[in-house]
Formats: sequence, structure tokens, C-alpha cells
Amino acid sequence: MKTRFLISFVLIVIAVCMPGCKKKAPTPQEPESKPEVEVKETRLMSANEEPFGQTADGRQVTLYTLTNTNGLRARITNYGAILVSLEVPDRDGKLADITLGFEALDGYLKMDTYFGATVGRYANRIGKARFVLDGVEYKLAANNGENHLHGGIKGFDKVVWRPEDLWANDNEALLKMSYISEDDEEGYPGNLACTVTYTLTKDDELKISYEAETDKTTVVNLTNHSYFNLAGQGTGDILGHELTLNADKYTPVDEGLIPTGEIRSVKDSPMDFTLPMSIGSRIKQVGNGYDHNYVLNSGGGTLALAARVYEPTSGRVMEIYTTEPGVQLYTGNFLDGTLTGKGGKVYKKHYAFCLETQHFPDSPNKSDFPSVVLQPGQKYTSVTVHKFSTR
Ligand code: BGC
Repeated sequence: MKTRFLISFVLIVIAVCMPGCKKKAPTPQEPESKPEVEVKETRLMSANEEPFGQTADGRQVTLYTLTNTNGLRARITNYGAILVSLEVPDRDGKLADITLGFEALDGYLKMDTYFGATVGRYANRIGKARFVLDGVEYKLAANNGENHLHGGIKGFDKVVWRPEDLWANDNEALLKMSYISEDDEEGYPGNLACTVTYTLTKDDELKISYEAETDKTTVVNLTNHSYFNLAGQGTGDILGHELTLNADKYTPVDEGLIPTGEIRSVKDSPMDFTLPMSIGSRIKQVGNGYDHNYVLNSGGGTLALAARVYEPTSGRVMEIYTTEPGVQLYTGNFLDGTLTGKGGKVYKKHYAFCLETQHFPDSPNKSDFPSVVLQPGQKYTSVTVHKFSTR
């Protein structure tokens, strides 16, 4: 009994000493460090900030970082309320940044691609850059041929948002920003007070919520314009990503990408993503690529699953839930290799896809589309959740 005890004791002593044996002996200058204890890294939810440079008119801009317990990390700047990067694990737990963008503010100041941006006052196009509200015609900035795109020449993506809240608790990390768009800005009626809130949850969701109030009848349609590549930003095209859209219908467009007003079934056409289908399988049949608004089966109003994207090599899955009635599928058709982004990556055609949750394009001129009118005393709200997992 005694001998067995002694052997066990010696074995334990050897086992405990072994890892220490590999350590080099401390030099006289190096004080003997404390015994090495294997500490399993526990990540906490966190919300931090650091300077991100200044705009041409000298306004200081900040970069915020939200991190969750699984290592997901979202970096956001208050310039354009832009999502600068989003790191998400693959099926082996390896993190990669899955959104296109720039390392420094300068890239964002110059861009016309809306990488990661908060888009408003009206995301997407308004035909002939005009609409009539309560019998009054409003003329907007025409920045896309004769049409108005993504809020005009200086939309919400090109203004400095005011930080309102930055915190983390055991369940989520949150950043809230606000912006007041003045009456007649880019031609829109009414002072519009808006907020956008990014929340990273412990369940690997990035939630983006918007609120807005006006003092005069106006139109509002806010979205986030992130360009995703679930294999990692800048690593190649997204044609092999498998997409499912919870949409039986879409809104066909004219040459200027303005909806004709028709709501058409996707059945028997390359527009059909009701069952999982690779983005590239029929893309050649839709001209330059997908740049279409899908009519979600949910009808909007309640948070419902709109899209699921699966990337086979990394195993990453992104699900999008939204309260919006539509989603724009845009397959980076205008990326042409002239932009160099994060990590020196060159962004070529179809190197990313966007799924911009929204009301339908040109709704202010289409009385049959769900209304985008906001009256004084009403509150505009919109929520979109990006949920990440692997397969
Ligand atoms: C539009 C595209 C446009 C792109 C700009 C998308 O939302 O649908 O037509 O070129 O934004 O980045």
C-alpha cells in the first residue's frame, strides 16, 4: 500500500514538473516567473473606442469595437455609421473578416460604393429624383443619372453620427449613434431625428436597429450596405455561396434599375432562390448580375427570416431576419478591381454580395408598394438581425 502511494506520488511530482522542465532557466536579469498555470482564455463581452482620424472639415471620428464571448468582433465608425469589419469564426473556429472595406478613414471618405454604410434618408433609388407628398412636389439630388440613389450626394453614409451609448453586459455589446437630418437636406421635407444601434449578442447575432421621427410629413427607408464574403473579404468571388431567399416574388426594373411597378413571381426564372442555390448558377442569365429587390413572404412588420447564405469552404452560415418587407440582392456588379481594401485586397466583380433589407425602391412614386411615409408623431422603426453559425 505504502509503495503504491509512493509511486503515485513520484509520478504526480514528475507530471507536475515536466512542463516546467521545458522552460529555459531564468537569467540573472530575468526574475523567476510565477509557476505556469494553464489559464483558459475567457473572453468577455466588450465595447471599446479609439480615434479613427478626421474628416476634411476637421471633425474627429471614432472607431468602436464590439466583441462577444465567442470572439466575434464588429468594428464600427461614427462616420457614416459604417460597419468597418466583422470577424466571424469558420467551422474550425478560425476568425476571418467577412466584410469589404478599408483599413483607414481615408478610404471611406473617398468611396462611392457604400461599403458597410448606413444608408438614408432613402436607401435605393427614387425615379427621376422626385416625388409628390400631400400635393407638393419634392425634387431630390439626382446622383445616379436622372435618378436619386441612397439618399443623394451627401447621404447618411457621408455624415458624422453622434455617439449616444457604448456599453457591454453579460449578454450583449452595444453602440448607439444619432443624426439629425435637416429639413430640405438633399431635397427631403422635414427635420428627421434618427438613431442607429448596433448590438452584438452572446448568441453570435449582429442586430442593427433604426428609429426616426420627423416634424413634417416625409419619406424614410434606412438600411445597412455591407458587402459580405463569407469565405473572408477579398479572397475571391461569391458565386459559390449558396443562397436561400424567403421570397416568392420580386420587383422587375427598367434600364435605370427603377421598378416598373409589377410584382412578379420568381418561379421558373433565374431569380428563384426559394430553395438553396449557388449565387453563380444562373447569374449569367441576369445581365450584369443580381441587383434586384425581393418581396419577402413575411410582408414585413414582424421580425422574420429573410435570407440564409452558406459558404461551403469555410462552413460559415449567415441568416438575416428583418422587419422590412423587401431585400435588395446586389452581387457587387460594379466592383471592377480598381479599389484596394483591407489587407491590400483588390475587390473585383462579384467579390461580395449585399442583402440590403428595405422598403421597395421608388416606393414614394408607387402607391401600390408598402408605404414609406412618416408623419409627425409617428415613430419609424426597423430591425435587421444577422445571425452567424457554421455547418
Ligand atoms: C444598388 C446598386 C448600386 C450599389 C452601390 C446597391 O444598393 O442596388 O445598383 O450600384 O448599391 O454600391
